[in-house]
Amino acid sequence: MTIKVCVAGATGWAGSELARSIAKAPDVVLVAAIARKHAGRILGDVLGEPRLTARVHASAAEALSEPCDVFVEYTKPDVAKNNILCALERGAHVVVGTSGLTDDDYAQIDALARKQKRGVLACGNFALTAVLLQKFAEAAARLIPQWEIIDYAHDDKVDAPSGTVRELTYRLSKVRAPEPTVPIAQTVGPPEARGATVSGSQVHSIRLPGYMISAEAIFGMPDQRLTIRHDSGGSAQPYAEGALLAIRKVSALVGVHRGLDSVLEL
Ligand SMILES: NC(=O)c1ccc[n+]([C@@H]2O[C@H](COP(=O)([O-])OP(=O)(O)OC[C@H]3O[C@@H](n4cnc5c(N)ncnc54)[C@H](OP(=O)(O)O)[C@@H]3O)[C@@H](O)[C@H]2O)c1
Repeated sequence: MTIKVCVAGATGWAGSELARSIAKAPDVVLVAAIARKHAGRILGDVLGEPRLTARVHASAAEALSEPCDVFVEYTKPDVAKNNILCALERGAHVVVGTSGLTDDDYAQIDALARKQKRGVLACGNFALTAVLLQKFAEAAARLIPQWEIIDYAHDDKVDAPSGTVRELTYRLSKVRAPEPTVPIAQTVGPPEARGATVSGSQVHSIRLPGYMISAEAIFGMPDQRLTIRHDSGGSAQPYAEGALLAIRKVSALVGVHRGLDSVLEL
């Protein structure tokens, strides 16, 4: 059976790579795309890929007049939540790649997804090595009660921390709360120097030219330390592969599931 997909952000860095991968996939077809600048055009003309015959729409509400099985969100944090809610209202399953949504946003999305009996698979990072970072960090947190996280990204990334790190902190919070020797509130000096507390973990976000996306979870014990780190390269290909897998699996889910490993056998 062919899966009909609508991609929001299909002309962007991540969304265009996904659209090109969909064009090559035998079991997935792109039926609509969303982006403002190229609204009204055929996506294939914009991307130079003649197999992409879907039209680009300026908004999710317009694009969803074309029925789809799966809606993929790859735009910006300020419009992502409304797009996702709109897609669920129309009965689509949703794959979320956009970063910047909070735990509260996901709680609201989860309520609607359950009401609609639809799945939402939200992956802060679709790359396999980032997925493994999350899994290995959870295992480490079960045994090591102290950790901090460093979130590296390019200088023009508007949201902090990254979706990868938000997802990591959320997942670690489900394992246990970290136990710092000196509680953050008792810091002598500006407490901001200890980073932000995100879902219970201390996070330090660095935004500088020269970085792509990296995430480092550091677990410390007396006289020993474990660092688990994911580094992304320059292309969006690893994200496209992970997003395609999510598109194929999301319809088996109900409610919000965070992390690609929720549909992988790890
Ligand atoms: N989960 C993952 O593995 C992963 C991987 C890469 C990126 N990301 C995240 O995915 C998101 C997109 O990243 P990107 O690098 O692809 O960004 P980008 O290159 O800036 O692309 C954004 C896309 O969204 C469209 N867009 C932006 N605002 C819109 C609006 N208000 N209405 C309709 N369309 C809108 C843009 O087209 P117009 O400007 O023409 O509207 C463009 O097509 C970010 O949150 C990023 O952090 C996640």
